[in-house]
Amino acid sequence: MRIAGGCQLKGEIEISGAKNLALPAVVATILTEEPVTLRNVPNLADVKSLLELLDCFGTEINYKDTHTITLSTRNIKSTLAPYDFVRKMRASILSLGALIARYKKATVSLPGGCAIGARGVDLHIKALEALGAHIDIKNGYIEAEAPKGLVGCDITFPMTTVTGTENILMAAVLAKGITRLINAAMEPEVEAFCELLNKMGARITGAGTSVITIEGVDSLHGTEYKIIPDRIEAGTYAIATAITNGKVLLKNCEYEHLASFFETLNLVGISCEQKENGVLISCNAEEIHPVSIQTAPYPGFPTDLQAQYTVLMSLANGGSSITENIFENRFMHIPELARMGADITIHGKTAIVNGVKKLAGAQVMATDLRASVSLVIAGLVAEGETVVNRLYHLDRGYENLEEKLNNCGANVERFEV
Ligand code: EPZ
Repeated sequence: MRIAGGCQLKGEIEISGAKNLALPAVVATILTEEPVTLRNVPNLADVKSLLELLDCFGTEINYKDTHTITLSTRNIKSTLAPYDFVRKMRASILSLGALIARYKKATVSLPGGCAIGARGVDLHIKALEALGAHIDIKNGYIEAEAPKGLVGCDITFPMTTVTGTENILMAAVLAKGITRLINAAMEPEVEAFCELLNKMGARITGAGTSVITIEGVDSLHGTEYKIIPDRIEAGTYAIATAITNGKVLLKNCEYEHLASFFETLNLVGISCEQKENGVLISCNAEEIHPVSIQTAPYPGFPTDLQAQYTVLMSLANGGSSITENIFENRFMHIPELARMGADITIHGKTAIVNGVKKLAGAQVMATDLRASVSLVIAGLVAEGETVVNRLYHLDRGYENLEEKLNNCGANVERFEV
């Protein structure tokens, strides 16, 4: 992707449906034989990969339009999630809970490592065993079965896990009796996911808090559900707007889903104004004030916005520290930013950023989804041209990125080498 520097973003950006809700929502359709229609599904590579896995299981998939899909899993032809799928799409691990709940067995490949960290699934497995699943790890696969079905119980997560919470929610909705998830994830996507499951007939209370209670039911039914807007996409464009000293309305963005993030941006000197159809972002300070942050589970600073925020701080008027508490290797954007003139040193989990006056365009390499978009943001504001390679990382999580940016005055184009 070639990005001309020195632009100022002005206009409107329509925020797409949330990737990290669309993924569990697609898998949850396995829990019923009736059709489930999902609306506002983002058109992303990750969603397409997961739909291919469901097709493998035997789910019928009908696209009403690019963003509206009806899925029906009337009868299953396989409960195997092969390594080839899972290594490309970690969220395939979510099929474990759903397959055991509905079909009492599942064989799912261990996801293996990921660029940003080990990302184990040990907490998913321990929780499923607590519900009564027999699990063997053999030749890189998780072989799970629960011939008599699962039985609800209290489960405390030693650390909050988003997909761990979602996996166990799907296992528990059809279990016998009551399950209480303690130290459950509180992300808006998890709260919305519980709404979807309840619309399908589940009995879940406490969604959005750290204790979620699920009363098992015999079966779930079909429904129709609209995916909430993607708060990480919205936060990404908020930073892109701020760093180019622009003014953009993030259409459909839910202010509440990013409240603590917007408060941080306010301290930086960025105005984030709630409107009836979104959030208006503009810079109301001559300079970018340095504000240190630590990433944390919701409602703390989102780890998925850390790389983007690091770029903003690289041009701040002073020094700041950025601590990544969730993943052990999520600073891969920093060496690339250094090639553009950023002055950042890494000390374990903390990056010390000394703001510089400007960044210079360069050839840079994308390494993971959020690091790659942080390089695009840097390119928008750098002097000269920036070329970002390995765009497949971007396509996993950002729908129509060039179009959305160019509609606001950027000059971004994709080309093949
Ligand atoms: C979800 O990943 C998101 N993905 C991630 O978004 C997001 O960064 C992450 O939550 C944290 O908010 C989806 O929802 C599809 P975790 P997840 O389980 O569920 C460790 C993006 O850019 N852990 O909350 O995999 C884990 O290694 C992606 O959109 C275990 O050790 O994250 C990590 O260090 C990236 N064992 C920490 O917990 C387990 O069994 C939090 O992971 C589970 C997790």
